[in-house]
Amino acid sequence: MSNALSIRSTIHCDVLLIGAGGAALRCGAEILEQMPTARVIALTKVSHPQKSHTSTAQGGLAAVDPKDPMDATIFHMFDTWKGSDCTADQNVVKKICESAWEQILWLENRGMHFSRDQQGRLSKRTFGGHTRNFGEASVYRAVFEADRTGKGIMDTAWGETLKRGITFINQAIAVELLMENGRCGGCVVFQQKDGEFVRILARATVFASGGSGQVFQVTTNCRQNTGDGLALVLESGLPVMDPEAVQFHPTGIVGPGILASETLRSVGGILRNQAQEPFMEKYAPKMKELAPRDLVARAIETEIREGRGIMNPDHNIEHVWIDLRHLPQEVHEKQIPEVTSFFKRYVNLDPRTQLCPVRPSNHYHMGGIPTTMYGEVQDKNQGVIEGLYAVGECAAASFHGFNRLGTNSILELITMGKLVADRVVEVLAQTPAAASEMTSSHYREKMSGYLEHGGSESLGQIRFELRALMTEQVSVFRTKAGMTSAITRLHELNRRVTQTKISCRDLKMNQELVQRWELDNLLAVALAIAEAALAREESRGAHFRDDFPERKDEYNYHTLVSMDRFGEIELGRREVDMSVFEAGGEHHEQFSIIERKY
Ligand code: FUM
Repeated sequence: MSNALSIRSTIHCDVLLIGAGGAALRCGAEILEQMPTARVIALTKVSHPQKSHTSTAQGGLAAVDPKDPMDATIFHMFDTWKGSDCTADQNVVKKICESAWEQILWLENRGMHFSRDQQGRLSKRTFGGHTRNFGEASVYRAVFEADRTGKGIMDTAWGETLKRGITFINQAIAVELLMENGRCGGCVVFQQKDGEFVRILARATVFASGGSGQVFQVTTNCRQNTGDGLALVLESGLPVMDPEAVQFHPTGIVGPGILASETLRSVGGILRNQAQEPFMEKYAPKMKELAPRDLVARAIETEIREGRGIMNPDHNIEHVWIDLRHLPQEVHEKQIPEVTSFFKRYVNLDPRTQLCPVRPSNHYHMGGIPTTMYGEVQDKNQGVIEGLYAVGECAAASFHGFNRLGTNSILELITMGKLVADRVVEVLAQTPAAASEMTSSHYREKMSGYLEHGGSESLGQIRFELRALMTEQVSVFRTKAGMTSAITRLHELNRRVTQTKISCRDLKMNQELVQRWELDNLLAVALAIAEAALAREESRGAHFRDDFPERKDEYNYHTLVSMDRFGEIELGRREVDMSVFEAGGEHHEQFSIIERKY
């Protein structure tokens, strides 16, 4: 085994954030506000924290303004519960919805440029599934910064962390979690620029490593979202929760799958089929275009399946249209300038005068690393792993259950970022000891295997086949046959991957090596998704089985998937928290197992 793979140095810190997107930065900023002397390190896989996926978020963040006479926190809680198809954890839903406005003020007071109305108040927009009076009508609840809200959040939170002395390590990946006796003490990190492995010992380690959208071929996700955090916890013998709960955004720009924000429907965009007929009323008579995403995505796919789609000759993909031609010029210019420019740039169409082609695109992973409502990572038996936390898209507390409402993810990352920080600070204050000296056990073997394997298989080809397979077989509509064949193919791909050769052995900026590691991560996460989806013989939220189209009460639990080695799947369960219903307060009946109609 090459010496180049040895640990070069050890770094000590109080808090190690694995990731530097919105959740990590909100958490880091809060820890540093409360503990100014803490040493906080944030790793990012990309070349700069601002290139994190949060920066691409468009639409906004949901939060009930306490001064809004039309809205109430209980309505937001209800919408989130109903949207989740009765699988969100109610303690988490309550906590996040109640903390929401305070977090908007945190951003506002630190300089975020929220869009404002004529009276100077924060502007609000409607989004799918957000209603007043328990489903009566759509409500204006999401605050935003034009259609680049994520960038505003990143600018604000990044500035706060910098000001308070965070240390960023760019282009670095966590390759092994340091664990001993149910306790985490940091991780081994590959610093790509130096081509060196270092050990970072931390009193608290927080996963904020983002999503896994690259498992799918058509996705709104950035190139770096390869499910690394999920793969790392699986490899460490910990479970992932609800991996089968994957969101497909109704309107990806056909071809690249780039996000065309739900804002388009919020400002009045209409979905039309081949005959240019609006079709959403058939599927969601009351909410139409503003029904939740799982429902709108299925409506579009149904139109296409039943022959009412349009073939795009450039990409050989069928799609429907979004019609924005009737919107006032001011809306195009002030509310959706970014998305308008995307249509121009990527499909050479002008949404002010032309119909725009859209089709569902993988967007978000509701599933993730199971945590408590304070982000403490749980093991298979729901015991808390000391020193280990998770927040943001890689985590599942679970606020979204089996279907996330638009604008609830950015809300989750800023509120949970704060809550996790509170818990980390509390624990650090109680245990003033230094980080434990933990040693690594397996990253060297893994990396050396990657470097030493020979064979004629291509990394790029396997990655391509994996992503195409998942988009074909484990997507908006799922069947037993499709998923069984996907699982068989994933095992084949996992065998083929050992026949790939890395042409360059130099470790510095070795992108082939990183891609080889990512491919293992993608394979592990894809298998966890497919196995959990196969086992759940019902339809719930974004998980829709053609062969089991109804929701079934017997499946009213979270799936836990463990996989110590590829293919060695162990399934478990976590109960759905129904504490709001069980508390029996006013409106508690709205939080029972309710029917889901829009
Ligand atoms: O459609 C959008 O702008 C996406 C928002 C979200 O995923 O929350």
